Amino acid sequence: MRIVMIGSGYVGLVSGACLSEFGHHVTCVDTDKAKIEGLINGVIPIYEPGLDEVVAANVKAGRLSFTTDLASAMPSADAVFIAVGTPSRRGDGHADLSYVYAAAEEIAKYLDRYMVVVTKSTVPVGTNSKVAEIIRRVRPDADFDVASNPEFLREGSAIEDFRRPDRVVVGCTSEKARGVMREVYRPLYLNETPIVFTSLESAEIIKYAANAFLAAKITFINEMANLCEVVGANVQDVARGMGLDGRIGGKFLHAGPGFGGSCFPKDTLALLKTTQEFGVTTKIIEAVVEVNDARKVQMGEKIEKAFGGVAGKTIAVLGLTFKPNTDDMRDAPSLVIVPYLKNKGAKIKAFDPEGMKEAKKHFDVEFCSETYETLKDADGVVILTEWNEFRALDLAHVKELLKKPLMVDLRNIYKADLMENAGFSYVSVGRPPVL
Ligand code: UDX
Repeated sequence: MRIVMIGSGYVGLVSGACLSEFGHHVTCVDTDKAKIEGLINGVIPIYEPGLDEVVAANVKAGRLSFTTDLASAMPSADAVFIAVGTPSRRGDGHADLSYVYAAAEEIAKYLDRYMVVVTKSTVPVGTNSKVAEIIRRVRPDADFDVASNPEFLREGSAIEDFRRPDRVVVGCTSEKARGVMREVYRPLYLNETPIVFTSLESAEIIKYAANAFLAAKITFINEMANLCEVVGANVQDVARGMGLDGRIGGKFLHAGPGFGGSCFPKDTLALLKTTQEFGVTTKIIEAVVEVNDARKVQMGEKIEKAFGGVAGKTIAVLGLTFKPNTDDMRDAPSLVIVPYLKNKGAKIKAFDPEGMKEAKKHFDVEFCSETYETLKDADGVVILTEWNEFRALDLAHVKELLKKPLMVDLRNIYKADLMENAGFSYVSVGRPPVL
């Protein structure tokens, strides 16, 4: 098959590369000249484990190419995917669909044969119908169908998620379009991955509902962590005891500093706006957004308390990205916690294995080039992101470097008894502290 992927951001690039690995001929199109030139020269604009290899192998095999010129990519395509950004619109939190609609207008100009126009970007319910309307307005003669094919990739494991998804969701309205989409995902089909065909509207809602549900699950366990802290229980035991109930499931029950990233914060907010627009009340989602926003500030207060006030103290911060294995800082808890501590008069020394370049755009703090340098002469250390390299620190050395053996671990990556034996004061999330 011939596939055009519009937008070489996170979703577009990973999907384009992985679809070429499935054996399709994929052209990735982006208006950002520098990005496309980089990709042509093998420069991957994001950090995602394994992506560089998939791109290199498929470029070499002649199945994957990059261009800024949609006109040259479109002829003889079977499907064209829209994978452009849908950021939160400034001011009102609605998804900004201007890039999606602009892509639809562009595509319309080049529809020279039957094509399925597939939206991969996360878009509110009703958007796919609007895309169809735009194309029909520009080209009343065009032979096409639209399909909604939301993406469930997690950053940091996106390649694996694409290769082995729990399911593929496709909303479309004609058997012809279903046939094309079946062909797109043929290798998965053969693997018995469920392909869930629905209406356009249902597919659009599935994406938001899934993300909001997962965000709610995290928020729920975070609130249980608060209760655990007060009564001296252990939230990890609670999560395990709950999660073994097959109806609940153990995933996304890790208490922490609140969810961040490019999807959950933006999508919960957008879903809230959509429901309000349609006059439907969703108090759960409202609460999830509110509780998660407040949590990041509460984490600042928690650190402050653990340090016995932070004014004039030096705090070593390990991890700045919203999760490990990414350089993404979008809505990371650090964006709230670090300024909070600075405002309270703390001096921050910070290190992140991949996020330093991004972090430098956001913070004016002392950036260190590795973990142990960060710890030197600090009054204590705070772990904000659970990068693997922070999981097995040489605690004796950490103790030597710090002025006081204090660790605030907002990701629960250490065992309390280990920290106690190593002589640390240790404060984590939803577990009894070692004081
Ligand atoms: C998420 C969805 O998982 C994915 O399906 C969707 O397509 C995009 O959004 P991603 O944002 O990459 O993926 O990361 P994810 O691993 O889901 O984590 C999101 C946030 O929740 C992170 O801030 C993470 O630290 C937090 N989280 C996750 C928790 O605090 N606890 C958990 O148990 C799981």
